[in-house]
Amino acid sequence: MDDNKIVEMIEETCELPPVPIVASKVLRLVNDPNSTVGQLEEAIMGDSNLVSRIIGMANSAYYVRIHKVKTLKAAINVLGYKALANLVIAASTRQFYTKFGLVEKLLWEHSVGTAIASAVLATEFKALKSDEALVGGLLHDIGKTIINLSKPDDYREIAEEVYNGNGKYYEVEREKLGFAHNDVGSYLIQKWNFPVELGKVIYYHHSIEEVDPSSMDPFQVKYICIIDVANNCVRRLGVGYREPDNSVDIAGLRSLQLLSVELTQDDVDALLAKIQKVIEEEKSKFD
Ligand SMILES: [Fe+2]
Ligand SMILES: [Fe+2]
Repeated sequence: MDDNKIVEMIEETCELPPVPIVASKVLRLVNDPNSTVGQLEEAIMGDSNLVSRIIGMANSAYYVRIHKVKTLKAAINVLGYKALANLVIAASTRQFYTKFGLVEKLLWEHSVGTAIASAVLATEFKALKSDEALVGGLLHDIGKTIINLSKPDDYREIAEEVYNGNGKYYEVEREKLGFAHNDVGSYLIQKWNFPVELGKVIYYHHSIEEVDPSSMDPFQVKYICIIDVANNCVRRLGVGYREPDNSVDIAGLRSLQLLSVELTQDDVDALLAKIQKVIEEEKSKFD
């Protein structure tokens, strides 16, 4: 099916939330060479929950190692505009996890787990900046949240099918709805005018075999691959799932190959243990 048809179906059947206003304002300011730190501060200050989440994330172990950031102004000065914009986008997505039943709790845990795993991997493999890793990991499954918000009954049935072993999420979604969460997520990012590279990370996270490094920007390839490895590590660990998925073969992932990283089974075990430990230590900073 071509992309236009998919977009039409998404628009017809899903209620897509409006762009998070603060994040959108911050992106505009960050892209404006004449904007000032004061304007950025003013755009974010009004939302105190957002401010505390941004500061929490900025202080996460995989973020700022030297300075302890206590204020928003310090966060802007230490991290710089672009990193701040990514953190604001990441922090804004919390607003979509409003009803907090089991489904939402698992989705949030999986997103936070993937964000932290992505940041760990970005540092381990020296592939990306932590802010890029965090926002990519946190938003990779945003499409699931949107489907769940807009069609909770369908989503519950899909989750049930997946739980019963009748396929992966994106497979069951495509069969049932005609599109999958990666289609919804990447379309939404585009519609909101959020960074294009983030949209591609979301789009490709279930079709890594379609990534062609000869025709894609090397940064984009790395970005997609880190989030893919993180997502798989978190699935393997069972973070945000009802149980660990032992069928995931981390060492054999194509995304690791594309990153030119070779891991032995011992390396994989050590990496998974590290990711699990950091998730435990850091996850509350995202609440
Ligand atoms: Fe996914
Ligand atoms: Fe995922």
